[in-house]
Amino acid sequence: MTQTKREWVELIALSELPTDGTGRALEVGGVQLAVFLHEGSVRVLDGVCPHQGALLGDGVISRGEVTCPFHGWHFDLETGASGDGLEECVAVYESRVSDAGLVEVFAPSESA
Ligand code: FES
Repeated sequence: MTQTKREWVELIALSELPTDGTGRALEVGGVQLAVFLHEGSVRVLDGVCPHQGALLGDGVISRGEVTCPFHGWHFDLETGASGDGLEECVAVYESRVSDAGLVEVFAPSESA
């Protein structure tokens, strides 16, 4: 039987996140994530665009949304909702920065 559990997982050093409106595409435990530093806060979203699978971590932030690099769909960094009035959205994961300066995400992982 497969169960889904959630745990804090180290992603990347905070100092490695860009501050120019771009992000990082990272895979952790088989889950693709998009990680951004926006207005001083870390945002971690599902990393795969629900349209045709582009990596949202390769997108660019504008007005609190990430723009998909393939066809320009927008997703709110706070809620994951589409900013284009579409029903599609992406999950937003709880994250924190450890005392050691590592970005951690409370992410799902599969375990048997
Ligand atoms: S793959 Fe993201 S908008 Fe098309």
